[in-house]
Amino acid sequence: MKIIMLGAPGAGKGTQAIMIADKYGIPHVSTGDIFRANIKNNTPLGQEAKTYMDKGMLVPDELTVKILLDRVAQDDCKNGYVLDGFPRTIVQADVLKDALNKLGDHIDHAINVDVPDENIIKRMSGRRACVKCGATYHIEHVPPKKEGICDNCGEALVLRDDDKPETVKKRLDVYHEQTQPLIDYYNKEGILKNVDGTQEMNKVFEDITKILG
Ligand code: AP5
Ligand code: MG
Repeated sequence: MKIIMLGAPGAGKGTQAIMIADKYGIPHVSTGDIFRANIKNNTPLGQEAKTYMDKGMLVPDELTVKILLDRVAQDDCKNGYVLDGFPRTIVQADVLKDALNKLGDHIDHAINVDVPDENIIKRMSGRRACVKCGATYHIEHVPPKKEGICDNCGEALVLRDDDKPETVKKRLDVYHEQTQPLIDYYNKEGILKNVDGTQEMNKVFEDITKILG
């Protein structure tokens, strides 16, 4: 099963994608996580991605597409994957569609996690992330067992550089301008499913599993 998660920054794409990956036994592929791991390791890719991410801008399509196509060509993606944060532009969606078409393949579901902008800003300031394993917490809604430490791998949790309120506003603008049109794109493809992302996260997941079966 091949799934795309759509939604504004902070809508809960990552939270839900991890739960989907676990239940359906498919890898969780997040371009944001790949970039952050490269930033942490100070690779040339990380250095370039950081200049865009810190400003709340998108990393250029050319770079992002290459990374994503390399990742989904790996062996563990043979039986499907859940894409979190990709595609984010029409160009990226077209490249993915063409690459899959060439293999006689397609995306099965595009799930739009719908959350209004007002809720987003509140969520972001409380988020804490693990750059080692990609786990996400929230100081109120999903606190780790031990404050500041990842439950899964023991790494120190961080407030992402791009979760400052001014950067979040910019990311929301970029989302509305460049990514929201994908809702219409996948609706026309007949694979769009909307879920109400303002609900409690287990309820959001229940709605998603009803869609995925
Ligand atoms: P990326 O890492 O993809 O960030 P994003 O889309 O901005 O999304 P977030 O990770 O911030 O939010 P999320 O929807 O995953 O929410 P989460 O589950 O964490 O991208 C970062 C940057 O990388 C981009 O700005 C861009 O520069 C670059 N980039 C990445 N992909 C790219 C691409 N394809 N092309 C170009 N550039 C790219 O949840 C948020 C918080 O809310 C958490 O604290 C969580 O615990 C909490 N929460 C979740 N669900 C609920 C709920 N139901 N109720 C209450 N709280 C909840
Ligand atoms: Mg995320």
